[in-house]
Amino acid sequence: MKALVLAGGTGSRLRPFTHTRAKQLLPIANQPVVHYALRAIADAGIVDVGVVVGGHADDIRRAVGDGSAFGLRVTYLHQPEPLGLAHAVLIARDFLQDDDFLLYLGDNYLEGGVTEFVRRSRAGRDAARLLLTAVPDPTAFGVAEVDGDGLVRRLEEKPEQPRSDLAMIGVYAFTPAVHEAVRAIAPSGRGELELTHAVQWLIDRGLGVRAETTTMPWRDTGSVDDLLEANRHVLDRLEGRVDGKVDAHSVLVGRVSIAEGAVVKGSRIVGPAVIGPGAVISNSSVGPYTAIGEDCRIEDSAISFSVLLRGARVEGAPCIEQSLIGREAVVAAAPRPPQAHRLVLGDHSKVQLTS
Ligand code: G1P
Repeated sequence: MKALVLAGGTGSRLRPFTHTRAKQLLPIANQPVVHYALRAIADAGIVDVGVVVGGHADDIRRAVGDGSAFGLRVTYLHQPEPLGLAHAVLIARDFLQDDDFLLYLGDNYLEGGVTEFVRRSRAGRDAARLLLTAVPDPTAFGVAEVDGDGLVRRLEEKPEQPRSDLAMIGVYAFTPAVHEAVRAIAPSGRGELELTHAVQWLIDRGLGVRAETTTMPWRDTGSVDDLLEANRHVLDRLEGRVDGKVDAHSVLVGRVSIAEGAVVKGSRIVGPAVIGPGAVISNSSVGPYTAIGEDCRIEDSAISFSVLLRGARVEGAPCIEQSLIGREAVVAAAPRPPQAHRLVLGDHSKVQLTS
């Protein structure tokens, strides 16, 4: 069995971050989202992985390499335009040959891995197997109707009136039967070849598509709120470990991980929280549920439930919450008593002011 990891797409809901970087590389607990998928694939015993890349191909190549760091053999497949998930399968035809394969959307975070799912798909005789989970608002996803035997009867992509609350998670197992399906379907209203339509094509031809429902935490990290939520889930399982320097005037509460080369001075870090290598935290309060990336600087500030990317700086900010702060971005207090907010924001940035 092979795996296909989709790491293309535009990531429009994560602008401005996706102007400069692939959404699959945004960090959860200081690790790129796509690394979690690659580890789950390796844990399931799969070695040959095709990674479909688009606009930010070079970044993905740098972050994933040849796959050996994960025990994988990675082949890169170029999708020139984001024409849909089924289009990614179409261009991967030569790589996949006639092997069964696991398809994993590189921006999906699923706790607990896919080992059992892969084992059951290998043992089963179905044309495809889907992983589903109940969600409060299914309108943002592919939605499945499943019969009492666990066979999928009908699928709809982002329906206005969902017929069930079972959303398709971005993890699917396919036999080569899907290749005919992705060739047969037409682009959807949003101009994409939808994987959901390809799977429906299999169902319509009487080929068995089986569903499994999971209750494990899952997030499509395609929006800021979902990324912060995935960060909270992963930090909940974090083990405390201090390799960096913490001075005598600092307090660590709960599970806190401080990487080698990080420095904490006169600060309070409330776990779960992770501080990356080279970060310097002084006279501040950090956490809970906060991931501070490599080489960040936090001074005279308080920050919680947030994710800071490499090299971000926060100075004199008394209350930052539920924020995602990009690489080398600077948040600083105004030098004099503030009469006005002064902002230098890139395209699609978003700021919420309290006064
Ligand atoms: C895609 C699929 C959808 C699935 C979702 C899971 O949606 O089209 O069926 O439920 O991934 O993350 P997209 O993220 O492209 O909107």
